[in-house]
Amino acid sequence: MTEPEELLARAVAARAGAYAPYSDFAVGAAVLDADGTIWTGANVENASYGLSMCAERSAIFHAVASGARAFEAVAVAGPDGVRTLPCGACRQVLWEFAPGLRVVYDDDGRVNEIPLAALLPHAFGAEQLAEARVPAGSRGSRA
Ligand code: THU
Repeated sequence: MTEPEELLARAVAARAGAYAPYSDFAVGAAVLDADGTIWTGANVENASYGLSMCAERSAIFHAVASGARAFEAVAVAGPDGVRTLPCGACRQVLWEFAPGLRVVYDDDGRVNEIPLAALLPHAFGAEQLAEARVPAGSRGSRA
């Protein structure tokens, strides 16, 4: 198995842990860190729908809370046959930890991948917050 295939298989396995009684849309995610450890997560819903948590955030929070800080790739597995890429909120959260992340997904039966940067162009991040702390007169031309 190639690395993306293995990561996707781990996301599919993690999907079994999903708690999705409201949407019936189970999702699993697997994050590969720079040390080669794979951290998994699944979506966990709530009767107060807005409190539900996606699989990708569940996985990256699992990893970060366990001490991991550098990441290579994330694989996402929605229901079989449904091409599932991270939602907008998850793209933003993943960006915080890994702007160079590769996103692996099932593309009509084929394992495919796309850079997170392509899914979140012109992203907002810590860089913008740091830029605002620099006096306006000494900022670069993008300010
Ligand atoms: N969901 C994920 O876990 N990840 C995605 O990338 C898309 C959506 C979850 C949220 C909710 O529990 C269900 O799928 C339907 O939106």
